[in-house]
Amino acid sequence: MGTTARRAMTTAYTKGVKPVIFRMHPDRVHDDMVRHGGWAQRLTPVLAAAESLLTHSDPALTTEAYGLTLRNPLGLGAGLDKNVAIPGILQMTGFGFLTFGSVTSRVCAGNPRPWFHRLPADESLVVHVGLANGGAERVAARLRELADASHPRLTALPFKLSVARTNDALAGDLEEGIEDYVASVRALDGLSPLLELNISCPNTTVGEAFTEPDALDRLLAAVDQASPSQRIVLKMPSDKPWEHFRDLVDVALDHRVDGLTLANLRKDRDAVTLDPAIRGNLSGRPVRELSTELVRRTYLHAGDRLTLAGLGGVFDGRHAYDKITAGATLVELVSGLIFRGPAVVGTIAEQLVALAQADGFARVQDAVGSRAEEPARTVA
Ligand SMILES: Cc1cc2nc3c(=O)[nH]c(=O)nc-3n(C[C@H](O)[C@H](O)[C@H](O)COP(=O)(O)O)c2cc1C
Repeated sequence: MGTTARRAMTTAYTKGVKPVIFRMHPDRVHDDMVRHGGWAQRLTPVLAAAESLLTHSDPALTTEAYGLTLRNPLGLGAGLDKNVAIPGILQMTGFGFLTFGSVTSRVCAGNPRPWFHRLPADESLVVHVGLANGGAERVAARLRELADASHPRLTALPFKLSVARTNDALAGDLEEGIEDYVASVRALDGLSPLLELNISCPNTTVGEAFTEPDALDRLLAAVDQASPSQRIVLKMPSDKPWEHFRDLVDVALDHRVDGLTLANLRKDRDAVTLDPAIRGNLSGRPVRELSTELVRRTYLHAGDRLTLAGLGGVFDGRHAYDKITAGATLVELVSGLIFRGPAVVGTIAEQLVALAQADGFARVQDAVGSRAEEPARTVA
């Protein structure tokens, strides 16, 4: 039943919904999704029915990560729901976990609009949001509200909170940046199982100071000292040479970091044809092999000392499986949902089981790292 429903939903999305919304400006589609999703998720019986149709359930998908037992290894990546506005809608699509944020210590207006530009032929979005969000205090209040028993369905999935440095005119030196992260970490302490430190947003005027090993070391020392109850994950850049990237991984290993999410938006825009007047960095297909290769190298370097989540250009089960066999325990997506629609998560989950079992693995998690030794593919 689930397979048929997902196929019907995919056809309805690609032939009916997508042609209409892809004629609208992507900023408006994003704003409408958050606005209308906010009230729509109150229709809890409808959401529960949709969730049971869209979700692919199979014990072979059960994944242990970060001390959690997840119904599948697929998660929503950071960025789609910065202020925890539509958790019920996102949960309905069948993810095993969600990521909210990125959130910053101060309320952040982000960059001037437009924030998004679509590249349909490249299955990519040019993103230039600059971390617009309502601030850590507001998100903390929202999470406390959702934890209230009157919203039982809205917090049923494990989730990560992504924290970034505030992108505004008040941003100062490195020390100020560290204090900014720590203020968010303290405000959100205890409100999620996982905290993701986004050190790699490429769309800010404050830059990416913490993708330098010394600066990262200082930041993580301060976070160690703040000692949040959550496990810590780092959101890594996609565009550093391997030697530099490996140094960042080594710094993470020296601190209380449990995992890495690989990777953020791609800054090198040579992979696509794009008007230079359009500002921003690439999601989707242009990040796919880049991130899989980072997973592979990081897995070979760090082994099981870090839990890896592969993120970038995951649109089908093969893309997800490539990240898993390269060494990712978890796989996240953002653009896949936009380009393929809400049934994509269940479809990928179903394909993952078939791919793992064709390789002789009883569970998808058994396939983690099984092809990490295979030579790298050329990164486009
Ligand atoms: C609409 C949108 C907003 C994003 N905002 C954030 C963000 O706030 N924080 C973050 O760490 N990454 C953000 N990203 C990057 C994604 O989390 C992800 O790293 C990147 O898009 C590659 O994954 P994808 O190909 O599945 O989209 C955003 C991406 C998109 C498409």
